[in-house]
Amino acid sequence: MDILRYLREKKEIVDRALEGYFPNLDSINSKTSYPHSLHLAIRHSLINGGKRIRPILSIASFEAVGGKGDRILPFACGLEMIHTYSLIHDDLPSIDNDDYRRGKPTCHKVFGEAIAIMAGDGLLTEAFRLMTDSSLGDPVTILNIVTEIARAAGILGMVGGQVADIESEGKEVDFPTVQYIHTHKTGALILASVRTGVKLGGGKGDVLKAFTQYGERIGLAFQIVDDILNVEGKAELMGKSTRSDLYRKKATYPSLLGLSESKKRAKELMELAIDALQPFGSEVEPLKEIARFIVFRET
Ligand code: IPE
Ligand code: IPE
Ligand code: MG
Ligand code: MG
Repeated sequence: MDILRYLREKKEIVDRALEGYFPNLDSINSKTSYPHSLHLAIRHSLINGGKRIRPILSIASFEAVGGKGDRILPFACGLEMIHTYSLIHDDLPSIDNDDYRRGKPTCHKVFGEAIAIMAGDGLLTEAFRLMTDSSLGDPVTILNIVTEIARAAGILGMVGGQVADIESEGKEVDFPTVQYIHTHKTGALILASVRTGVKLGGGKGDVLKAFTQYGERIGLAFQIVDDILNVEGKAELMGKSTRSDLYRKKATYPSLLGLSESKKRAKELMELAIDALQPFGSEVEPLKEIARFIVFRET
């Protein structure tokens, strides 16, 4: 299959839905977008940027287990909004202090730190409003999914991982600490994206178990590749600065294991992720291709 075309088509669906939640100021009643600075800051970071891997994973998993229609879209958008909030906060001067993201100056560079913090807070909160819409399906399933996403995004997941990342800067850390950072700051939301699609699509038991293994493996591989690209990627392609992990003395796979061992581990995880989906047929082909894309990407 043509995975680049698949990713492009799914990204268009996600982008259109996100545009619907946060329309251009010209096309809406200005009262609903007040305060404008907040709305503009959210659009700056959210619209026209990003690979949309998390929402695409939720859609691909939903469809792989037989889910039909667009009930998955509010979750797909919610996951992307949580991810975008995490990027806005990750780039702040007190965290990674980055000036570029998604090919543009970072949110705080354009709107100031206070509005950037609020844009992140707004995206995180709004994501949960979308995902708890009572018309989305069986309330028990919805509650179960939303609880899992909250756990993955919060103290037991991404926020915990980010704090460990911050506190490890400049220190000699051991391998279990880097593993904790990667599986929490990045792996948790990627895994939750896969599991959201499976659960909403009705997948349970052994199916959910296999997709969970897939999600854990691509989640860790994703951050290892992010670390590798920070060392040898092209900033123009990625739309964010490179070489910063070395400068900030971040705890990364390459800093601990070296580049070639990091690449080897990322490929092994990709193979293991694909293996986890072996019991299924052509319906999981997009997910297998996404695992390959994650490891061989240049952006
Ligand atoms: C970058 O995520 C930050 C990490 C969690 C590794 P992505 O590489 O998915 O960034 P976008 O969404 O495409 O900008
Ligand atoms: C980002 O990790 C993880 C989250 C935002 C949760 P990094 O700090 O390594 O990602 P980039 O390289 O800035 O995108
Ligand atoms: Mg960071
Ligand atoms: Mg960063």
